[in-house]
Amino acid sequence: GGLKLLKIVIYGTGYVGLTTGAAMAFLGHEVTCVDIDEAKIASLRGGKSPIYEPRLDELMELAGGNLRFSVDPAPALSEAEVVFVAVGTPPMADGNPDLTAVQSAASSIGRHLGLGFTVVVNKSTVPIGSGHWVESLIAEASGEGDIRNLRNRCCVASNPEFLREGSALCDILYPDRVVVGSENPTANEVLARLYEPILQQSFTAPWFLPRPEGMGAVPLVATDLASAELIKYASNAFLCTKISLINEIGNLAEKVGADITHIARGMGLDARIGGRFLQAGLGWGGSCFGKDSAALIATAKEYDIRMPIVEAAREVNYAQRDLVVTKLLNELKILKGRTVGILGLAFKPNTDDIRDAPALDIAQRLIDRGARIQAHDPIALDRASCQLNHSGIRFGPTAEAVAAGADALVLTTDWAMYRDLPWKRMAKTMANPLILDGRNFLDQAQLVNAGFRFLSIGR
Ligand code: UGA
Repeated sequence: GGLKLLKIVIYGTGYVGLTTGAAMAFLGHEVTCVDIDEAKIASLRGGKSPIYEPRLDELMELAGGNLRFSVDPAPALSEAEVVFVAVGTPPMADGNPDLTAVQSAASSIGRHLGLGFTVVVNKSTVPIGSGHWVESLIAEASGEGDIRNLRNRCCVASNPEFLREGSALCDILYPDRVVVGSENPTANEVLARLYEPILQQSFTAPWFLPRPEGMGAVPLVATDLASAELIKYASNAFLCTKISLINEIGNLAEKVGADITHIARGMGLDARIGGRFLQAGLGWGGSCFGKDSAALIATAKEYDIRMPIVEAAREVNYAQRDLVVTKLLNELKILKGRTVGILGLAFKPNTDDIRDAPALDIAQRLIDRGARIQAHDPIALDRASCQLNHSGIRFGPTAEAVAAGADALVLTTDWAMYRDLPWKRMAKTMANPLILDGRNFLDQAQLVNAGFRFLSIGR
């Protein structure tokens, strides 16, 4: 039979909410995105997305009337069959996520819940076990004294998100798998219906998001609530560990005269290992890996379980940032008064996100040792210069500008535009033409030829 379309409400027009909303609306579902930020909603109604994500504006336009925005959840909620909670959960000082926004979304859902069966899906990154907590908040706000009555018309499910910033739309529309989890088989069925179109091998999104070559049908994993929640944390922990392992090997490779890029290729061709997420460098950053690995350790601790592997992955990752200081010290001997140019502030290319970005940490560690920092980023520059106003970092409008007069350059983000900079010219304007390629991204021969002393990671 044809696609059974669903009425969806999404709380939160941040990264996950907006990309999920646009994708679901493109599939034909009727989506209302709600947010308490009136300015954001007004801008979205005008077709302007408040976040930078490749192709999002185009997909929103294609979604057309299926994608609506409102500050008032009540009308859409009374008819909603699926509600996504995709509000922010920023880390607090103690490392735990701040769940205030999730709490107020859950209460709002409870107050406005319709009479039909509604599946509430937590897309916000919440601690394991939060499903039941959200359910109790909804029950309380709905006036259903007995949670068993609530369960006749509302069910909390988990549907973890595996999207990466910068390729979010492809990750949503062409996922490796879809995971749904709930105690209620009906809820899992509703969510399977939601994803039905993209599970098919024949599914293609618009031309600007082509189907990856050779991609088969998408498997659906339907399980219980806690397992679905854990799949997300376990997957991120695995990826963190994979990156940290290759960095750990890289640090040895460097000493014994081996090349980590060759080692990673040699390892990655083993189908049991796989070649992705084996790029050695300055390690991971971003809003997810650091936060999720810390949350996993914290949850385990509540059950008196230690997670030494995840702890070690974190330790290796953050130590990797010190490598830059060590390597520059080796070369320059003294950092005080030296000028270091930083290429890339975003935690990875194709995003303007600077949360937990290695570049910022590295800049700070160099500033602490008396160095002067001038930094560039093709997309995150505005955001960084607003947020880091008092950090002492100076921001340059171009890569050439931050090279001028510098004693060293450090490439911290592998932006495509950094591949072919006018290196010869830049080397000439530097006080000392030294470059540390923190992502093993540049062509060593090209840089050496341009007059640079070239350093990289793990080789
Ligand atoms: C990550 C996961 O990849 C997603 O599957 C997950 O949904 C998301 O977190 C989340 O929990 O929401 P994201 O943080 O957007 O996505 O970015 P990644 O592409 O995974 O990169 C993370 C960091 O790892 C970047 O700083 C990147 O430079 C670094 N990295 C990645 C490496 O250092 N080496 C690699 O080989 C790969």
